[in-house]
Amino acid sequence: MTDKPLITTALQTSAFDPEARADPYPRLKAMQEQCPVFRDDVMMAWFLTRYADVKAVANDRTLWRHPINGEEGSFSRRLLEPGLDEETQRRSGSILFLDDPHHARVRQPLMKAFYARVAQMKTGIEAVIADVFERLGRPDRFDLMAAVAIPVPILAIARILGVEEARYREFRDWSEGVILGLTTLRTPAQTERMEAAREAVYDYFITLMQARRAEPRDDLISDLVRLQAEGAQLSDDEIAINLIALLVGGNLTTSDLIGNGVRLLLTHPEELAKLKADPSLAGAAVEEVLRFESPVDITARIASHDMEVGGCPVTQRQTLMISLRAANRDPSMFEKPDCFNITRKHAPHVAFGGGAHICIGAPLARIEAAAAFREIFARFPKLRLANEELRWRSLPFFRGLEALWVETGV
Ligand code: HEM
Repeated sequence: MTDKPLITTALQTSAFDPEARADPYPRLKAMQEQCPVFRDDVMMAWFLTRYADVKAVANDRTLWRHPINGEEGSFSRRLLEPGLDEETQRRSGSILFLDDPHHARVRQPLMKAFYARVAQMKTGIEAVIADVFERLGRPDRFDLMAAVAIPVPILAIARILGVEEARYREFRDWSEGVILGLTTLRTPAQTERMEAAREAVYDYFITLMQARRAEPRDDLISDLVRLQAEGAQLSDDEIAINLIALLVGGNLTTSDLIGNGVRLLLTHPEELAKLKADPSLAGAAVEEVLRFESPVDITARIASHDMEVGGCPVTQRQTLMISLRAANRDPSMFEKPDCFNITRKHAPHVAFGGGAHICIGAPLARIEAAAAFREIFARFPKLRLANEELRWRSLPFFRGLEALWVETGV
């Protein structure tokens, strides 16, 4: 064992790096053992891999999130929109990047309206799943990502928001374009794609908001414009941007959860047998997939004061990148962390982050993935992996498959 870190930047633990794309865990484990509080000079950020540190930072509501608070030159600051004055910067963007008071002002009404719609989706998901499987039919083999994992979250969020389902392919396309804004490692073509997607989806929502104001319907967009008319402090821009956040946040991540989960269950026959014997374990299976193969690698906070993390001095404005993936495999928290076990007793994973920014979509993602697991294995009890090489996507800080070919054995 050496004291020299195995990596020079956290990017080398992400899907951006071909070795980590295939298997990020050996590097994360080495970091956790050798330098759990690592200074990444490329991203100008601290990279934390121990559960205790990750959890403490995620839950610390005194820390900042907005990139504008980051050090000059840091990865965080490079996410800022150029050309906007400071006050506009602080107010703009989705709740993912806002700090209080703007974060609470926007998140609270959004969450209230969204959770009422998610509660309806507890039963509504059955109709979404039925549509997806009806379209699929009874093929001998199919790509589970394209046929199930991608359409389920898109159709569910489309129904919640009240947008036409016929446009779900465009939504996926827009989501993939917009999510490129979370990284600065873009080719010019990707930047062009991101900007075109942002503009198209923004215009789409603004138009839909006007339509719902004139003629309300039973959907989240109508709920939000009504709340605004009743006095909620939300501008049109904030509503549109956060609708985009729901659309984007709800797509790639949940598709990856479903895809990663089906792959894990098919490669762990004992765990799959437990689920088949007792489909009420679907919720527990979802939690274990979230822990074992988290769709999102990291989240971040910015030090609002000089502080100490894991024994290291951190100064105000420095970025703290926290590795949810490494924390979820920390042996000091989880017994046999590298074992996939859907009946594990106590597994408080951090796949959804924590504190003020904890994922707003977690309840929806859980409903969708549990329903998808139940239906896939009920409908195709002999499902197995096809003999195809697995290809993971290369988008940094997300872990999901390009395709998952399966055979139905019918
Ligand atoms: C398996 C699925 C998902 C995973 C793993 C995931 C993960 C995350 C993580 C790690 C964060 C950052 C939390 C933090 O900084 O502490 C986050 C925030 C967020 N997620 Fe999710 N997410 C998922 C599904 C969804 C869904 C279904 C939606 C919406 C429909 C959504 C919308 C959001 C939004 C809007 C935020 C920003 C919240 C805030 O900063 O206040 N996510 N998510």
